[in-house]
Amino acid sequence: MAKAAVNYACTECGYSAGRWFGKCPGCNAFGSLVEEIPASLKTVAAAKPLLRLVDVDAQEAKRIATGVPELDRVLGGGLVPASLVLVGGEPGVGKSTLLLSALGAISAGGRRALLVTGEESTAQVKLRAARLGGTENVEILAETELDAVCATLEREQPDVCVIDSIQTLYAADMSSAPGSVGQVREAAGRLLRVAKEQNVATILVGHVTKDGAVAGPRVLEHLVDCVLQFEGDRYHAHRVLRATKNRFGSTNELGVFEMTGEGLIGVPDPSELFGKTLPGEVGAAVACALEGTRPILLEIQALVAPTDLAMPRRVGTGVDPKRLAMIVAVLARHAGVPLGTADVFVNVAGGLRIDEPGADLAIAMAIASAQRNAPVREGIAVFGEIGLTGRLRTAAQSERRLEECAKLGIVAAVAPEGTRSRSQIRVSGSGTLRDALRGGLETREENPRKSG
Ligand SMILES: Nc1ncnc2c1ncn2[C@@H]1O[C@H](COP(=O)(O)OP(=O)(O)OP(=O)(O)O)[C@@H](O)[C@H]1O
Ligand SMILES: [Mg+2]
Repeated sequence: MAKAAVNYACTECGYSAGRWFGKCPGCNAFGSLVEEIPASLKTVAAAKPLLRLVDVDAQEAKRIATGVPELDRVLGGGLVPASLVLVGGEPGVGKSTLLLSALGAISAGGRRALLVTGEESTAQVKLRAARLGGTENVEILAETELDAVCATLEREQPDVCVIDSIQTLYAADMSSAPGSVGQVREAAGRLLRVAKEQNVATILVGHVTKDGAVAGPRVLEHLVDCVLQFEGDRYHAHRVLRATKNRFGSTNELGVFEMTGEGLIGVPDPSELFGKTLPGEVGAAVACALEGTRPILLEIQALVAPTDLAMPRRVGTGVDPKRLAMIVAVLARHAGVPLGTADVFVNVAGGLRIDEPGADLAIAMAIASAQRNAPVREGIAVFGEIGLTGRLRTAAQSERRLEECAKLGIVAAVAPEGTRSRSQIRVSGSGTLRDALRGGLETREENPRKSG
């Protein structure tokens, strides 16, 4: 047999080459290339007959409800049988907790649920299970050897299996260390095959690198059916689950949880929690943002403080810094809100993050309110996208947003021109940012308290 070619792969970025480099040409990391011996290559089987799509027999498989409604929502209505899901998140954010409670609910529904733990001992899992409750029927396997895990899955064929975590698994026939690119790729590939062949819905837990990407190579993201990101601020009890890729449902869908001693509790109505401002408070506005199909009301706070810095600071927590810089510039240029000698700080309530352009107008409104020392009118919500010319663009799915506002007792909305309302909410449509600020902020006459 011919000698297997040796390959060198970067443990940071997955770059691979036929020779060793001290510095990775892919990501410029030093000393990150390790030798990778490919597993023995199989010979190609005989050609197979082809099918036309019309002849393919496919019933829509019934999804497996995970018993955690917020997780089901993010998955697009439950776990698809035989699918592979990757859950990423920072250490301690609650991945194991979330998945153990899901397994508990699945096993209580009469399905077989297996937890493969490579990170924690069975006793540690038991302690967590006692805290969560309702997990008596979950089966558990403490194993890190890939062959053993695959063999067990083939024999037992559970309905759902959680691998905690993919970085701890190792294939004995590969020379690289557990957690290295080659090992992670091999483990995910083998598990994918088992999942499809044995009809096991498999959830992989993945660690997150310093910059927030799922650790290991991005190849994992291509391999799996869904990628879920579990995010949270370590200073807040709230956690947000997002889908960044989903072959069976919408991405951008959002699940909100609260971390408590009894585990993660779903927050079915985050708007109620995050969407309130104190009447008359300067520098706060309620945004109606849309995450996937879910409208959510969020309080946005802004502070405008005079500064002597040559380059004033624009600091946003939960908002994209580039978007914030753009909004500040448009406010100054087109809406008469000078901010050249002021630091601007913006914060989104509850440690949440908004990426949606529909929240632009609310951010601008909060900043303008802080700068002019005039509160936003009571009981209004704000949404709309700001263009570079200072004109407002209609936001997607405005009807949905207005419905959410109506549910929470909002009486009026400031939105771009042309936004129609079928509910009882009064919409003041504005063509430009300047008009919108006029419609949204209290004037001095209305608010004599603030004029002195
Ligand atoms: N008794 C408790 N009361 C409240 N919260 C707790 C309690 N015990 C643990 N937690 C919370 O659970 C979190 C740990 O959850 P979990 O172990 O599921 O995280 P993880 O994402 O799996 O972490 P890792 O990446 O280290 O495996 C802790 O950060 C803490 O917030
Ligand atoms: Mg864990």
